[in-house]
Amino acid sequence: MNKFFLDLGNQPLANNYLSHYNKKQIKYKLKLYFNTKTKLVSISKRIPSKIMFNDKYPYRSSMSITMKKSFKKLSTEITKKFNPNLILEIGSNDGALISNFKKSQVIGVEPCKNLAMITKKKGYLTYDKYWDINLAKKIKKRFNSIDLIYSANTLTHISNLNDVFRSISNVLSEKGVLIIEDPSLLECLKRNTYDQFYNEHIYLFSTIAVQNILKNFNFEIFNLKNLDTHGGSIRYYIKRKSNSKIKVNKSVINQISREKKYGLNKFKTYKKFSLRVGKSKKQLLKIIDNLKSKGNKIVGYGATAKSVTIMNYCNINSNLIETFFDTTPEKINKFLPGKNIKILKYNKNKLTNFDYAFLGAWNFKKEIFDKEKSRIKKGLKFITHVPYPRII
Ligand code: TYD
Repeated sequence: MNKFFLDLGNQPLANNYLSHYNKKQIKYKLKLYFNTKTKLVSISKRIPSKIMFNDKYPYRSSMSITMKKSFKKLSTEITKKFNPNLILEIGSNDGALISNFKKSQVIGVEPCKNLAMITKKKGYLTYDKYWDINLAKKIKKRFNSIDLIYSANTLTHISNLNDVFRSISNVLSEKGVLIIEDPSLLECLKRNTYDQFYNEHIYLFSTIAVQNILKNFNFEIFNLKNLDTHGGSIRYYIKRKSNSKIKVNKSVINQISREKKYGLNKFKTYKKFSLRVGKSKKQLLKIIDNLKSKGNKIVGYGATAKSVTIMNYCNINSNLIETFFDTTPEKINKFLPGKNIKILKYNKNKLTNFDYAFLGAWNFKKEIFDKEKSRIKKGLKFITHVPYPRII
């Protein structure tokens, strides 16, 4: 049974950056639910993938040094530990992971044609299609089976999880390994990062919920790692239950114990979270209103999908945050979805025109603070809402 716990208001498509501000941009209710049986947290309104992930999808994995490093490290680990003949990536984006492998060794799946084109042009076999059973069957017919399937920050975007895992089970070899990584629900609740929820993120996984879903497909998690990426993620290493050669690592039971201790299996934990979110909104607005009343100029740093949730939930317009700076070419000179706030090309010199920067890309805080060291020394201050609204 799905129980409602948080209403984040009306939200536009998080990655739908418009060239002209349109007050009437379509918005959808963003309501969060907890399933008392599967323990899965999800949003209610499912928008068809074709509307969200199209040939103009602006998110690029390679835009951050942090992510590039993380993928490079993982590719070395994959080769060392699993030495797969053939790797398949579901949601290969602009190739941040697959470009670390030989072209003959990897297959990309990326439904956003603009992104798939980037890896295709580099000579990587890329299917510009949605991951489903038809595609899985097609790949199986051509390659027989795949030794390693990887998917980062993608499965949480796909509504029909049963179809996802059925399709994976179809092509993964008997001894094959599936690695998935997605934001951690535990970290989200601990850090009060309610902006991890937007209409693309249909689910936010706990290990408890992942384990429950996998049971239906005779898969099990045999190892996991907590990562810093995306504000706290978990990388799950999954195998078929029938593969007894790989032992289940203690990390799995340890993580489940931590999650149970925090109460991720109980509805009341989510009710408490929803109260904290309401408080966070009030505090953030208080800080921003106070700074504005003193004549400060505020810029947004990193026009993330997460910022779209914050700006729309807290109703922050360009009278409070004048503009956002971002490095992604696809977002520049467009408007932050749902708001009249224009995104400009990141310019370090223009940053000095502002007194405060709202840390939209808080998940890259370290990378950003390193980059802005000299401007921070000259007085630039950041506003963040993680784990609670404050100036840093
Ligand atoms: P990210 O947090 O990965 O994504 P999401 O949209 O899923 O919430 O996006 C980071 C955004 O921040 C991306 O648009 C690039 C931008 N960015 C900068 O503009 N400057 C930076 O130094 C960094 C690290 C990111």
